[in-house]
Amino acid sequence: TWTTGNVIEEQVAAIRAQVGDKRAICGLSGGVDSAVAAALVQKAIGSQLTCVYVDHGLMRKGETEQVEKDFVAATGANLKVVDAQERFLDALAGVSDPETKRKIIGREFIRVFEQAQLEILQEEGPEVAFLVQGTLYPDIVESGGGTGTANIKSHHNVGGLPDDIEFELVEPLRQLFKDEVRMVGQELGLPDEIVQRQPFPGPGLGIRIVGEVTKERLDLLREADAIAREELTAAGLDREIWQCPVVLLADVRSVGVQGDGRTYGHPIVLRPVSSEDAMTADWSRLPYEVLARISTRITNEVADVNRVVLDVTSKPPGTIEWE
Ligand code: XMP
Repeated sequence: TWTTGNVIEEQVAAIRAQVGDKRAICGLSGGVDSAVAAALVQKAIGSQLTCVYVDHGLMRKGETEQVEKDFVAATGANLKVVDAQERFLDALAGVSDPETKRKIIGREFIRVFEQAQLEILQEEGPEVAFLVQGTLYPDIVESGGGTGTANIKSHHNVGGLPDDIEFELVEPLRQLFKDEVRMVGQELGLPDEIVQRQPFPGPGLGIRIVGEVTKERLDLLREADAIAREELTAAGLDREIWQCPVVLLADVRSVGVQGDGRTYGHPIVLRPVSSEDAMTADWSRLPYEVLARISTRITNEVADVNRVVLDVTSKPPGTIEWE
């Protein structure tokens, strides 16, 4: 019979058999899948695992701390944090086009992660032969199956390494669906904030600022987003909505009246949606009192924001994210 206990026991044995006395690397994204995969591998091989977290500066308030503190506290994993905030901001400077932003963020992410892999290889030697990935069953079905290897090219001038390094993949979640992954994560003692996390795009807040991404705009959006999340959680709506992107229209200003005078500030968009699989979605009919509280708090507490608007578009025609 299927129990989380059995799944964990089986996977721990399989991981031990696969990795032996070699070492493994796992990239953490802040999401559920990579966290649960890492926790499973950590349980199996302990300090033979090194986790890597690239802090690109595009996460929401508290999320990096969740990985740095809560994940480490729950698992005891070795974690290497790469602070790449400046690098991502530099690469994104002057860019407004959504697809270009996505490409830049994806490219920089791979570069920074590969660099970290190379550093770990240099520190720990050729025993580092495995790469852990949080691939789920639906991912495999969609991509036509098959497991394999990952390549990095050592064109980064670190020196002393072969030209092409191959990792064998460890994919302990290959047989699981999302809800099963959450159960396994919970059983492994990961905190709810990680295990029950709603979907969040890899490019993070970078694609929730319509316009150029800057440090100031990210900080502003982080505040507004934190308020919306806090109020949705307080109202007990986390399980009801699929996710609620909070978007900053950085290139739009409108006139408002706040405090002693007129202001010319930015609008924040709330995009709460309900969905089964993100392929289609409907806008969530949130209680007016909750919307009112979010709006009042954001306009009072976040400087430069004088308007909160609600996105009432289903998908299609609107995507869930604005970029
Ligand atoms: P859209 O905006 O296409 O989003 O309706 C569908 C779902 O996918 C998420 N999303 C992403 N997730 N990397 C991700 O890991 C991405 O680049 C990305 N873009 C969108 C989005 O949050 C929604 O859940």
